[in-house]
Amino acid sequence: MTSAFFYANRLKLLLLTQMKKKEIEIKTVKNPWPTKAAMEQIYAMKLWGDNKTDFYSGIGSHNSELKSPYINSLVSFLTSFNVPPVVCDLGCGDFNVGKDLVKYTQRYIAIDIVTDLIAFNKKKFKDEQLEFHCMDIALDKLPKGDVAIIRQVLQHLSNTEVLAVVEKLMEYKYIILTEHLPEGDFEANKEIISGQGTRLKKQSGLNLLLPPFNLKVKEKTQLLSLASKHYPGLIVTILYEMHS
Ligand SMILES: C[S@@+](CC[C@H](N)C(=O)[O-])C[C@H]1O[C@@H](n2cnc3c(N)ncnc32)[C@H](O)[C@@H]1O
Repeated sequence: MTSAFFYANRLKLLLLTQMKKKEIEIKTVKNPWPTKAAMEQIYAMKLWGDNKTDFYSGIGSHNSELKSPYINSLVSFLTSFNVPPVVCDLGCGDFNVGKDLVKYTQRYIAIDIVTDLIAFNKKKFKDEQLEFHCMDIALDKLPKGDVAIIRQVLQHLSNTEVLAVVEKLMEYKYIILTEHLPEGDFEANKEIISGQGTRLKKQSGLNLLLPPFNLKVKEKTQLLSLASKHYPGLIVTILYEMHS
């Protein structure tokens, strides 16, 4: 009788401990914020740094060692067309990069998810062929164009959101994708929660040609692979020619 009571109590204690453990596990699972709120918080709290302006998209958008070769490479691509192309800049950020490309295009459509940033850019950058739109590139229908530029944007998004963007990229003739990647071999496309960080913390980076994305392209040309003294890894820019 005593031992039955003892074992019943042990069992009860064991069950309670297991339930408590489960409760703690549930509480510590990270709940992703909606991407718009996450990106707004990054700008509001200057999580990508601060250069005393209202909006700052980080060193990758301002450091001349990373920016100048990128601009040179894109200018030679954009000026290779007989008729200047229509460009959609998906995730244009503070537009410190995009502003130097506008004059080589027929029309430049710059998109970002952060409402106040788009309002700020509209006032700061004015050009006849330039327009800004606040959109979520994973959720919204993307504008038509010849070339889609996506520079250091997808690296911050979850695989589900990257896939939603990839499904819309077939609409463009060319994609120019820039991603922060680990140096050397790495396991591509590890899952992350959308936000400030990238897959680099998991020793991973995006390769859109591999599962789960399986982007089908006609041709792939690596335009740039740049190291920076400011962080590990490489900033890699690839031009994809798409099947028409
Ligand atoms: C690191 S910044 C890069 C900005 C710019 N492409 C550059 O290279 O300077 C990433 C930008 O992508 C934007 N972004 C992230 N997710 C987005 C989404 N789902 N739709 C539109 N913009 C997004 C962010 O708000 C941020 O401005």
